[in-house]
Amino acid sequence: MTASGQFPSASMPDPAALRLSVAPMMDWTDTHCRVFHRLLAPHARLYTEMVHANAVIHGDRSRLLAMDPVEHPVALQLGGSEPALLAQAAAIGAAHGFDEINLNCGCPSDRVQAGRFGACLMREPALVADSVAAMIAALADAPHAVPVTVKCRLGVDDDHDYGRFRGFVDTVADAGCRIFVVHARNAWLKGLSPKENREVPPLRYDWAWRLKRERPALRVIVNGGIAAAAEARAHLDHADGAMLGRAAYHDPYLLHSLDRAWFDGAEPLPRVDLLRALRPYAEAQLARGVALKHITRHVLGLFNNRPGGRRFRQILSERAHRPGADWRVVEEALAAAAGPRRAAA
Ligand SMILES: Cc1cc2nc3c(=O)[nH]c(=O)nc-3n(C[C@H](O)[C@H](O)[C@H](O)COP(=O)(O)O)c2cc1C
Repeated sequence: MTASGQFPSASMPDPAALRLSVAPMMDWTDTHCRVFHRLLAPHARLYTEMVHANAVIHGDRSRLLAMDPVEHPVALQLGGSEPALLAQAAAIGAAHGFDEINLNCGCPSDRVQAGRFGACLMREPALVADSVAAMIAALADAPHAVPVTVKCRLGVDDDHDYGRFRGFVDTVADAGCRIFVVHARNAWLKGLSPKENREVPPLRYDWAWRLKRERPALRVIVNGGIAAAAEARAHLDHADGAMLGRAAYHDPYLLHSLDRAWFDGAEPLPRVDLLRALRPYAEAQLARGVALKHITRHVLGLFNNRPGGRRFRQILSERAHRPGADWRVVEEALAAAAGPRRAAA
């Protein structure tokens, strides 16, 4: 199998299923967040926070791999660089029902660098290829087809060589990875915080688009800095999909609008209705002892840039952490945001 050749399609999702996805985000895309995003965007592909392979193997799986059945299709993102451990973790993820296993080759944090995984792996294509091959082999007997995918950058530090980036992709593709999420900027491993690493290194979407042109058999999903519907849509002319991170989290209605426009060709639904659709899930979680704040923290941006949006956020922030807080708090916030007449409707 070569990167430019044809691949068997056994574990390749339908191309339409890759058009829209929400990025893996540590501390943000937990199971409560993903359930909310699923209600907003029934067709989007969702990603977990990164979980290190060792944690999957030795840690508290009921917490680390928590996932609600409504989340599908959902990918488990793994961190790590030891093929045998990654393979074991991938098999555990598949057994838990995840639909895709994604390897993180883009995180630049110091902790990740010390562990020699994340973005450092951009400099070790052979190790990534070995890891991917081991994970694919471990998933061969999974009850459902589970693709192994990679999320990477364009390079690290001052590597500005398209050929090297494509060489990384080719090496990993030859090991069987067919889907690449490209956060279309370099990671600077020295001197920038992870937050700065999502903002300072310049975006180069043209590299991701060129990769798709030159390797049409691969699926290329573009990520990084996509903040508006028209920007997201533009990527579909050049690549297989757009992955949104911060914009989807801070402005969840954008995520909903994209899903409606791209998959149903329909007008977005009212925010109030979308939030109320979360009620059965929220109440089931409350009944299990989960505090309301763990769920509502992910919905704070729903009325962003709308009249009442600040009040909505404020009410939830102030009241959802109180002992005994229940769905009534959400209704109070809705009444403030949408006006009493709409919220009561
Ligand atoms: C709070 C936060 C946590 C993140 N955690 C991860 C992570 O666990 N794994 C990963 O691959 N990327 C992580 N990222 C990077 C995002 O997946 C994405 O690549 C980046 O934010 C650029 O996309 P955006 O501009 O649409 O936000 C994180 C980003 C944010 C804001």
